[in-house]
Amino acid sequence: AQAEKGGYKHFMIKEIYEQPRAVSDTISGNMAWFKGDVPLEGIDPTSFERIQIVACGTSFHAGLIAKFFFENFSQILTEVDYASEYRYRNPVVNGKTLVIAITQSGETADTLAAMRLARKKGAKLLAVCNVIGSTATREADTVIYTYAGPEISVASTKAFTTQLTALYMLSLWLGRENGVLKEEEVNARFSQLMEVPSKIEYFLGREKKEGNVKNIALEFYRSKDALYLGRHVNYPIALEGALKLKEISYIHAEGYPSGEMKHGPIALIDESVPVIFIATKGSVYEKVVSNMEEVKARKGKIIALLNPSSPEVERISDFKIEVPEVDEFLSPIVNVVPLQLFAYYIADFLGYDVDQPRNLAKSVTVE
Ligand code: G6P
Repeated sequence: AQAEKGGYKHFMIKEIYEQPRAVSDTISGNMAWFKGDVPLEGIDPTSFERIQIVACGTSFHAGLIAKFFFENFSQILTEVDYASEYRYRNPVVNGKTLVIAITQSGETADTLAAMRLARKKGAKLLAVCNVIGSTATREADTVIYTYAGPEISVASTKAFTTQLTALYMLSLWLGRENGVLKEEEVNARFSQLMEVPSKIEYFLGREKKEGNVKNIALEFYRSKDALYLGRHVNYPIALEGALKLKEISYIHAEGYPSGEMKHGPIALIDESVPVIFIATKGSVYEKVVSNMEEVKARKGKIIALLNPSSPEVERISDFKIEVPEVDEFLSPIVNVVPLQLFAYYIADFLGYDVDQPRNLAKSVTVE
């Protein structure tokens, strides 16, 4: 088993470090339809009035971010549901609905049930999946594969970043085919995506040398609670950061949109609660900074994810995690990586079985 882990202590850390390769393979593996060399089988891009995304767990968080992609780049109204809710809520679906199931394993029972319900109501079904030949890929009209390679760790990492990569490409493709995006914008955004693997690589290389995230984890592994805050495309990253921590370290953690903090979570803040802010550059940067000031005023301990040259954030934060700057819509793919590492190191410091957390399964094949 040690050999399978390629010298790493756990599959999770190995899989975190595989992300530059996984994202890059997902881009090249999907290039043919993206460039228009082959059709995306069964999909007429101009025929959809709405998209409904169904997924569970980490894949659901990828869906929440994909909503931003589809609405911004393809101008298609997009809803995102937990598959376990969708299947019991009598959704409005017709032949003009594209239902996208996001599932690493392709075997999650609720996601399959949501797909079957959508099929019965006449939707087109597209699966974004990591496992060739899985049930979801056999039942969907169209499959977009992620090329993460086998994901062994129960806590999902590289499946998530590759899902975002594939969904980003799909949104640009739909936008171009629908006439919403000009060819130049598609090309410009695609070039930015191509740079993402090397940006993650740069961050991971630096972390390996300096151990910054590891040191911050050492500071906080005895915490009882943690709050993750972010906005816009990084709100789901706050949810995902909190989920990672809960899954493997059993520390209570909550993700919240930082603008909503004043309606509840602010009551939880005191000196003992680490508050992790995703404060990288983008349209809501200033807004996030002012939310940080509110936390600071209540003596919360701030850990900030920031880009280089962000003096406003540097000034207020107690701990800093610097990540390379990328376009705002791509920032979730980079920003999630330090949060995966943070959860990993905390669980490891606590001595837990990182790859096999209690009560959780890699794929939940019964309801
Ligand atoms: C389980 C796993 C999660 C995963 C979720 C959805 O809960 O522990 O890591 O995100 O299932 O799995 P799927 O294979 O459908 O993406």
